[in-house]
Amino acid sequence: MDLGLQGRRGIVVGGSRGIGKAIAFELAREGVDLAIAARNAERLHATATEISAETGRNVYPLVCDVTSRAEVDAMVEAALSSLGSLNILVNSGSAPGGSPTATGYIDTIVDEDFLQDFNIKYLGALRCARACIPHLQQAGWGRIVNISGLNARIAGNLSGGARNTSLVHFTKTLASQLGRDGITVNCIHPGITRTERTPGMLQARAERQGLTPEEVEDGDYAKGSPRANALGRMVDATEIGHLTAFLCSDKAWAITGEVIAADGGGSSSVYY
Ligand SMILES: NC(=O)c1ccc[n+]([C@@H]2O[C@H](COP(=O)([O-])OP(=O)(O)OC[C@H]3O[C@@H](n4cnc5c(N)ncnc54)[C@H](OP(=O)(O)O)[C@@H]3O)[C@@H](O)[C@H]2O)c1
Repeated sequence: MDLGLQGRRGIVVGGSRGIGKAIAFELAREGVDLAIAARNAERLHATATEISAETGRNVYPLVCDVTSRAEVDAMVEAALSSLGSLNILVNSGSAPGGSPTATGYIDTIVDEDFLQDFNIKYLGALRCARACIPHLQQAGWGRIVNISGLNARIAGNLSGGARNTSLVHFTKTLASQLGRDGITVNCIHPGITRTERTPGMLQARAERQGLTPEEVEDGDYAKGSPRANALGRMVDATEIGHLTAFLCSDKAWAITGEVIAADGGGSSSVYY
């Protein structure tokens, strides 16, 4: 299927590694010229070179911390001057998990960590969207995809879950406001997703549980192993890339304000 993305231009925030990098790769394979944004310049440049070499697309690395409105505004302006126009924004600029001090009981929360978590993931996405929307409106054809996370639907992580839920509200609100400008806005909930971080995550969990990393990955469904989904395997970041490319495509006009879990069927809850 031709996704109709050839010649479109986009920004992938968090495009230097992990899910954002996989998304940037997929969009570039579909013919999108890109700016990728993150804080670490060295990794950004390496990723931009890698994607460009494989796909032949222009990929501009732009250093930006999404906790700063001034840096976000400057990043979007720099992207515009390189790309010429803008059709796509993907928000994936945040580390997984949420604040380590907010995963237990309410009395363990450190307010500053909690606020920083929201500052990066929720306000970061908001700052990026706010800077991009006038350009998407000008183009008259726009896509915003917010990478959230499945723990929005699972009680327990007071910052990681709550910040993910906030992105759902943000998605629905923007979709209502921007649809008539030719802009769709959607949200993806990855579950545990294989990225460059996965070997370290498995190793750390293995050490805590007195197991090997292989045993953790293959482990008991009831203990929340990474394979505890309907497919019986961990979803790969490339698969989030495929879904994102479809949502960004010319074939996905009917989908806006939606949240799609791409977790291999990890939740037993029924949504209707
Ligand atoms: N991987 C999973 O299993 C999983 C599951 C559910 C949800 N998610 C969600 O998916 C998103 C991406 O996760 P990931 O696994 O791809 O993480 P990752 O591998 O750590 O990549 C995060 C990306 O965001 C950038 N970033 C982080 N903080 C930033 C900031 N303040 N300003 C600008 N860029 C920033 C990072 O680059 P720099 O560090 O250089 O800035 C990197 O490019 C997160 O929101 C995460 O919660 C992931």
